[in-house]
Amino acid sequence: MQQDDILSVANMHMNAFPNFFLTKMGFDFIYFYYTNALSYYKSICLVAIDKDDKSIIGFVTGFQDASMFYQMLRANKRIYLLCIQSIIRNPLLTYAILRNQMRIGNKQQRQSSDIELSSIATDYKKRGVGSRLITSFIEAAKCMQTSNIYLTTDAHQNKSARLFYEKHGFIIEKYEIRRKRILCQYIKCIS
Ligand SMILES: CC(C)(COP(=O)(O)OP(=O)(O)OC[C@H]1O[C@@H](n2cnc3c(N)ncnc32)[C@H](O)[C@@H]1OP(=O)(O)O)[C@@H](O)C(=O)NCCC(=O)NCCS
Repeated sequence: MQQDDILSVANMHMNAFPNFFLTKMGFDFIYFYYTNALSYYKSICLVAIDKDDKSIIGFVTGFQDASMFYQMLRANKRIYLLCIQSIIRNPLLTYAILRNQMRIGNKQQRQSSDIELSSIATDYKKRGVGSRLITSFIEAAKCMQTSNIYLTTDAHQNKSARLFYEKHGFIIEKYEIRRKRILCQYIKCIS
């Protein structure tokens, strides 16, 4: 992934995750998120490119030592301006922002070498794009001397994504309840 790709990645994120927190925060916030992800020195940010028209047809991102990435994000003062803009647009987001801050603060401490797969999405489904992305992600993770890749995804009404992860060797570590949502925490040992 390069800076020029972030426009496409942010648009793809909005389409793939319509009711998720980042999407509700708006395009500028997502753009900011992926710009920071790309600049974080322990991230893995990959895109899949159509071989004919060279457009971006998928992406995957993740971080080693994810808590350090979130610290970096919060240390960037622009995040406050973006939060204020989102709240002006939708005041109900205030609660979601506070909840999210607390959740990140209380997040289970992982080994700093572990890698969080934060998002993966493709434009064309069931054509092998997602598989190529996650395989490349795992290969990149192996080069970063990690033992585990972990991710969190919805437990319900998310069968295709869950099967996709399970097919690529992720196993359920535990469940997490976030208000009305039940999430699965998956892990893949790669050492
Ligand atoms: C989850 C997601 C990333 C998977 O990407 P994908 O590109 O569809 O994945 P693949 O094509 O590699 O594999 C999916 C299925 O297509 C099948 N497939 C792969 N290549 C194929 C081909 N050429 N023809 C037909 N089927 C194919 C795979 O066997 C697999 O089928 P299975 O699940 O029945 O075994 C994608 O569906 C997506 O973007 N979802 C929305 C966002 C999301 O939910 N992200 C994950 C949660 S964080």
